[in-house]
Amino acid sequence: MAFAYEKLHLLLLLSLSTCLSSTSTISSVKPQRLVSKLIHPGSVHHPHYKPNETAKDRMELDIQHSASRLAYIQARIEGSLASKNDFTASAYPSLTGRTLLANISIGQPPVPQLLVIDTGSDILWVMCSPCTNCDNHSGLLYDPSKSSTFSPLCKTPCGFRGCKCDPMPFSVTYADNSTASGTYGRETVVFETTDEGTSKVFDVLFGCGHSIGYNTDPGHSGILGLNNAPESLATKIGQKFSYCIGNVADAYYNYNQLILGEGADLEGYATPFEVHHGFYYVTMEGISVGEKRLDIAPATFEMKENGTGGVVIDTGSTMTFLVDSVYKLLSKEVRNFLGWSFRQATIENSPWMLCYYGSISRDLVGFPVVTFHFADGADLALDSESLFNHINNDVFCMTVGPVSSLNIKSKPSIIGLLAQQSYNVGYDLVNQFVYFQRIDCELLSG
Ligand SMILES: *[C@@H]1O[C@H](CO)[C@@H](O)[C@H](O)[C@H]1NC(C)=O
Ligand SMILES: *[C@@H]1O[C@H](CO)[C@@H](O)[C@H](O)[C@H]1NC(C)=O
Ligand SMILES: *[C@@H]1O[C@H](CO)[C@@H](O)[C@H](O)[C@H]1NC(C)=O
Ligand SMILES: *[C@@H]1O[C@H](CO)[C@@H](O)[C@H](O)[C@H]1NC(C)=O
Ligand SMILES: *[C@@H]1O[C@H](CO)[C@@H](O)[C@H](O)[C@H]1NC(C)=O
Repeated sequence: MAFAYEKLHLLLLLSLSTCLSSTSTISSVKPQRLVSKLIHPGSVHHPHYKPNETAKDRMELDIQHSASRLAYIQARIEGSLASKNDFTASAYPSLTGRTLLANISIGQPPVPQLLVIDTGSDILWVMCSPCTNCDNHSGLLYDPSKSSTFSPLCKTPCGFRGCKCDPMPFSVTYADNSTASGTYGRETVVFETTDEGTSKVFDVLFGCGHSIGYNTDPGHSGILGLNNAPESLATKIGQKFSYCIGNVADAYYNYNQLILGEGADLEGYATPFEVHHGFYYVTMEGISVGEKRLDIAPATFEMKENGTGGVVIDTGSTMTFLVDSVYKLLSKEVRNFLGWSFRQATIENSPWMLCYYGSISRDLVGFPVVTFHFADGADLALDSESLFNHINNDVFCMTVGPVSSLNIKSKPSIIGLLAQQSYNVGYDLVNQFVYFQRIDCELLSG
């Protein structure tokens, strides 16, 4: 079972961090902005960009991936309910990297890595040479034996020369039974800075994966966990991070970015978050369509005493999923606006999707903004480019679905990547606030 592995893994990490008190230090005294471009699998900047992949192929993959993400979150919730123990284990639903990838280098000389950014996991791991089944498309497989800054993590600390290191084993098992295993080590992580220099974070604990139990190329070189667990890079580097998601749908867009640490952008309106099961939960209070506030009872979005429900803000899911009663109200409004003028389209594999024949940019001018309202006055406004996505030139679909479409019991709502487009989202892990600032990401990357 995946959960058994995850718990073992967690125990291991906890014991590591207590007996070795790992501390990362940043080279510069004045905090630098540790920045990384974020690359989407559909982007021309992705090394596996498939020019022939259609928008429909991509949407179907995104739906599949979002569905497994939600099922996975669900399983984690149930796992912790069953064991009556709120563990913050780490692991992604599968090894397929259908979400934003950060380009961060590791080692000396630095080797660029494309890492899945996951606000729901705590560990950093990268594929390491020699490797079975690793992603080597871009020839950028990191080799610890060629790095002057790598040090293995030994089962018993090796303080003096001649001591033989017995490396601490590393292994993760994902919800789809794919695995990554190897050993733990410490390495220098290299970021670009906004002034076109680099900034280094030394002695970062990471998993070095020498064996990948997955038979197709996952399209990334590892995972960068961004939850608030003590081991996560987000916690270690200044307890702050932010990402700006300008556009995920446009393959040529190149301004999506991640900033870790002091330089993170915490601007705009803030709403408190709580972490449960390793995910960031926010307090959603309502939804408006244009000026009209939907009639949703305040308790609808609340997390129930038994741990079900609630609203997760997530980078791992492309789509957004809302509890059914809310989805019904929202889709009814959308039907009211579009149903008279547009012919509905049916998507074979996902009949629950609300789709129409037409063009977002041509036909949805003036479509009301859909606003998600959060506690303390923070809003996330979805214009038609965030609420809808083309699956081909003639058909567009709503990027929000009902939680029940995935046939799971305890229904958390998930705010996915497409809904976060045109926003900079900042996380303050100390005070536990998430910030939403509507912005053109191009303005931040300079
Ligand atoms: C991909 O598209 C190109 C033209 O854009 C075409 O020549 C090629 O045969 C296509 N390949 C596949 C596998 O469909
Ligand atoms: C990642 O960053 C490195 C170093 O800045 C750069 O050479 C490489 O092209 C980037 N990779 C992608 C896919 O953008
Ligand atoms: C990865 O690709 C590079 C360049 O093609 C090659 O030199 C290297 O040996 C490969 N590494 C592995 C582990 O396959
Ligand atoms: C993973 O393996 C477990 C145990 O062998 C099995 O019960 C489960 O169905 C598998 N899951 C998937 C997605 O294949
Ligand atoms: C959790 O509690 C809610 C109401 O408080 C109830 O509707 C739901 O069935 C419960 N779910 C589980 C899995 O116990």
